[in-house]
Amino acid sequence: MTLGKKHPGLWAILGLGSIGSLWAGRFLDKNIPVELLFKNQTRLEAIKNNGLTIHQDKESVTHHPEDLHTCDSPGAPIHNLIITTKAQQTLPALHTLAHRINTNTTLILLQNGMGVAQEIQKQLPHNPLFLGITTEGAYRTAPHTVVYAGKGDTWVGSANMQKLAALHTLQAINQHCFWDENIHPRLWQKFAINCAINGLTVLFQCKNGELLQNKQACEQMAKICLEIENVLNKKGIQLSESLLKTASNIAERTSDNYSSMLQDFRAQRDLELDYLNAYLCREAARLNVETPHNQALVESIKQLTEARRSESTKLTNKPPFT
Ligand SMILES: NC(=O)c1ccc[n+]([C@@H]2O[C@H](COP(=O)([O-])OP(=O)(O)OC[C@H]3O[C@@H](n4cnc5c(N)ncnc54)[C@H](OP(=O)(O)O)[C@@H]3O)[C@@H](O)[C@H]2O)c1
Repeated sequence: MTLGKKHPGLWAILGLGSIGSLWAGRFLDKNIPVELLFKNQTRLEAIKNNGLTIHQDKESVTHHPEDLHTCDSPGAPIHNLIITTKAQQTLPALHTLAHRINTNTTLILLQNGMGVAQEIQKQLPHNPLFLGITTEGAYRTAPHTVVYAGKGDTWVGSANMQKLAALHTLQAINQHCFWDENIHPRLWQKFAINCAINGLTVLFQCKNGELLQNKQACEQMAKICLEIENVLNKKGIQLSESLLKTASNIAERTSDNYSSMLQDFRAQRDLELDYLNAYLCREAARLNVETPHNQALVESIKQLTEARRSESTKLTNKPPFT
């Protein structure tokens, strides 16, 4: 396979976390040149020194990528940029990479949440922008080690009615990557499920499946789902069954998982909340749809986050040996 070989700098990945590392591994598996872009030197060194290891089904592969740079390093314009940062990290990350993005740079945004695409379009109105969503599951056990925990499909479509010239490369390295001519409903459906589950797992500090065993959580999920459906209805987006049913099935299927939002909360990282339930509430307000339960959920999570922050500040400021 010689895809991309004649074009150094053809592909780059921004956001070498769980999902970004899976994609990096796929390029490296096929010997397709790919540049890996890091936030800082520490992250870069972790992979430079240890390689990038991907565990799957009791097997593991370690790649030794050579083309590693921090986002602020000088470099040629990027042709195709796969963006796998968390939603709230995306604009700051793109800012540090601005010197490598020109109007020909194709941006492929592979993440959960809503609102980032509009933010990108405001900043980079002329760039071809593609949006992707995945049902794959992965998590990091170290900065250079990723567990590919759940196989799934990735769907990509255009944000601005363009064709993705490089789609064949994505499909050549991932047979479970598909084109969707109208990606927006699919993005909204995944968004709806994330809104129905993730925030509640933070509120109740539980695994996905435990939501279904908690009467209060079940009642709240039902109310939240109804509001989300009202917003989707107003936008003309159809669901094949009730959101509560889909979300409950997914919580059941992933019952032993901690949602990414709960993992981020526990690791004291920023949450994708502004691009999930908080985005839903903003969109609902624009469409004159009431979403008091989603609003209350957003407020509760913000309070929890604030409380956790001041608690950890207190601990940090504590004099030793008290
Ligand atoms: N993981 C899953 O199973 C899964 C499944 C479906 C969808 N998703 C979605 O896919 C997206 C990515 O998720 P993920 O789990 O892969 O997240 P993740 O593991 O947190 O990866 C995000 C990566 O972006 C990097 N990053 C942050 N700011 C950056 C910057 N300024 N410059 C360069 N890199 C930067 C982070 O680096 P640091 O670690 O140094 O901060 C991290 O490596 C999210 O929207 C998530 O909801 C994830």
